[in-house]
Amino acid sequence: MMARPPLVAGNWKMNKTVAGALRLVEEMLPGLQAVGGVEKLLCPPAPALMPLSAILDGKNIGLGAQNLYWEKEGAYTGELSAAMVKEFCQYVILGHSERRAIFNESDADIQRKVQAALAAGLRPVLCVGETLEQNEAGRAAEIVSSQLRAALEGAQVDSAEALVIAYEPVWAIGTGKAATPEATNTLLRNVVRPTLAGLFGEHVATSVRVLYGGSVNAANGASFFAETEIDGALVGGASLKAQEFVGIVQAAQQK
Ligand code: PGA
Repeated sequence: MMARPPLVAGNWKMNKTVAGALRLVEEMLPGLQAVGGVEKLLCPPAPALMPLSAILDGKNIGLGAQNLYWEKEGAYTGELSAAMVKEFCQYVILGHSERRAIFNESDADIQRKVQAALAAGLRPVLCVGETLEQNEAGRAAEIVSSQLRAALEGAQVDSAEALVIAYEPVWAIGTGKAATPEATNTLLRNVVRPTLAGLFGEHVATSVRVLYGGSVNAANGASFFAETEIDGALVGGASLKAQEFVGIVQAAQQK
């Protein structure tokens, strides 16, 4: 078994009704199942989690939610608790830049969500990344490191499987302008893993999976997976197209 098995996750965002989700999964299932050695994860909108969990049962394809709320239960209209997510999911995406920017999630909110997820036995896919402005000001390293430390402060992460990090530069998300694999690899090596080492020690830092996200598609996936520090991808737009997503999963098999 490889130290860090590649992981390809699809973030469907606010796309697909249950009927549409079922059609998309049906279309991609044969292609996904034909690829071994790559962990596959689908993160559809919440209503599709229950039907997909039944369909994917025993098929070695994971499910993740796109958000949760940290309180256990009660008067929080519109929210999902970690326990509700855990009924159907192994993972939960937290700290996505759209949540930070559109829904004003703070580092402190994300920290609470990470802790609630871990306490419920869910694996956070924690997203971090700098904006274009921050990138152009040469602040990518500082922003990524501070987002990681803020979100993970006080978290009990004793095994590498408990957590996945997704480095997603905001300027690369949904723009068709992916970061370069080389620059991403350098940032993962010089910033993400050392920050994780400072928080959880060398062992966790070298064994946690770190994904790249931002305009990944079937054509450019392999160039990211060729880099030593990049353990997979968090895919938005291309995860809504069966052939594209299967193509990315196939590219990850070369790792
Ligand atoms: P994208 O989105 O692949 O459409 O750029 C990635 C993400 O937001 O996770």
